[in-house]
Amino acid sequence: MAFKVKNICCIGAGYVGGPTMSVMADHCPEIQVNVVDINHQRINSWNDPDLRNLPIYEPGLNEIVKRCRGKNLHFSTEVERNIAQADIVFISVNTPTKTKGFGAGQASDLKWVETSARKVAKYARGHTIVVEKSTLPVRTAEVIKEILISAKPSSDQSEPSTFDILSNPEFMAEGSAVKDLEKPDRILIGGENHDAINTLSEIYKYWVPEKKILHTNIWSSELAKLTANAFLAQRISSINSISALCEATGGDVREVSRAIGSDSRIGSRFLDSGPGFGGSCFKKDILNLVYLSRYFGLPEVADFWEGVVHLNNWHQHRVSQLIIKKLFGTLSGKKIGVLGFAFKANTNDTRESAAIQICKDLLEEGARLFIHDPKVNPLNISNDLGISPINKVLESNNSLTFQSDGSWSKASQISEATKEADAILVLTEWEEYSKINWEKESKQMRYPAWVFDSRSILDAKRVINSGLNFWRIGDGTNL
Ligand code: NAD
Ligand code: UGA
Repeated sequence: MAFKVKNICCIGAGYVGGPTMSVMADHCPEIQVNVVDINHQRINSWNDPDLRNLPIYEPGLNEIVKRCRGKNLHFSTEVERNIAQADIVFISVNTPTKTKGFGAGQASDLKWVETSARKVAKYARGHTIVVEKSTLPVRTAEVIKEILISAKPSSDQSEPSTFDILSNPEFMAEGSAVKDLEKPDRILIGGENHDAINTLSEIYKYWVPEKKILHTNIWSSELAKLTANAFLAQRISSINSISALCEATGGDVREVSRAIGSDSRIGSRFLDSGPGFGGSCFKKDILNLVYLSRYFGLPEVADFWEGVVHLNNWHQHRVSQLIIKKLFGTLSGKKIGVLGFAFKANTNDTRESAAIQICKDLLEEGARLFIHDPKVNPLNISNDLGISPINKVLESNNSLTFQSDGSWSKASQISEATKEADAILVLTEWEEYSKINWEKESKQMRYPAWVFDSRSILDAKRVINSGLNFWRIGDGTNL
């Protein structure tokens, strides 16, 4: 039997907690949804009165927040009070790779999950369903359960609180979060107690067809999330490895993708070769799988998945090395306009973006980078590259110069990136880059000038007809 949920608390107002709870609130007007976070600045941004400074850019998200905020969707730093009121608590906090100690570099750091579980143990009242929304190593529910059942009742409680634990991993992708949440391929709920599973299922049933709600045991659910990301990332490393082979042999990776993708057993999605996968999760989740495999005595399984990450790292360096080679083996003092820094289009997120490693390689060679991205905050670029932008010096003849080699500056307009550039490098597939007028931009570049398209979004003929040298990923047809 499902019970009627009146109040939900989500711990973590990040890329998952914010959009997931907004969509849930939108579809369940009679449920109060409280998203809490310890980060005051983030919560202030979610509460921005005119919605211009929401902490996350996702198409369609502003409209939902506008509809629900202050009615049944609330963002707050009052973690304890909201846990106490909740029938269901979602844990949606960050689970990055550990940077030090046992398992550093591979295992997930669960300190934020553990802190959240301890808070729930202390402040929850009555019966609470605790839902793992964060991506977690298989068997984490055991840890959470132990924390919850060992909590001692506080002085204001006549009876100890009781809990059920469910795993309900999130499969949305950034840039299409709202679309994915509105029409998910599936909702996965893992757990032991049928009443708890049904209670959570009833909420999703407000907008998700019942046949798409899958029930499994809790360990399968935890493992399915890691496996889904590992399979998706594996496809990208596979096609990126073939892109290198295409360039060496005269093939065209787009044609290969189309040919293999028409096989219904393979399918056409996630076969776009690019600069290497980025994002906060693929690498971390595969490394976690690698760690777990070794931990459970399965080194062959660990090596298999580790290869996906190795290939991705190699591929990013491959892109920077070929740029250096085409520009006569040196980038010292050369200007390269970088178009896109986000790890994919339609997001302001730069976590693990391929642009970080590629730009670092180019800076190391002395390049002067002019970086354009329609949504990324330049402060993030500084943090990611580990250097501040250099001030542009406007000379009397109005041309822009820099003080030194190995520097970067923000380009507010695309034309600022192309002006006197030796090369343009497309790293993110923002739609506006596919519409660039190359006849016009080419006129202000320094010849011989190159355009490197790592996303296959440019019209090759237009670029070449403008007198520019052109390279694109996985295209060996000009051998
Ligand atoms: P995030 O870093 O954007 O957000 C996490 C938030 O949790 C932060 O704002 C942080 O301040 C807050 N937090 C941490 N500890 C807290 C505590 N004790 N109390 C209150 N707030 C706390 O992370 P994210 O991208 O939203 O990812 C969250 C989880 O979801 C991760 O496990 C990730 O692997 C998984 N996931 C992410 C995506 C994605 O697209 N980003 C998709 C699916 C799953
Ligand atoms: C990914 C998964 O797609 C989501 O299902 C999952 O919920 C999420 O990770 C997570 O757990 O965090 P996300 O990283 O947001 O979502 O974005 P993707 O669309 O998967 O792209 C990841 C990276 O792969 C990007 O850098 C993208 O440019 C690259 N990519 C994607 C390719 O290079 N080629 C493709 O064909 C597809």
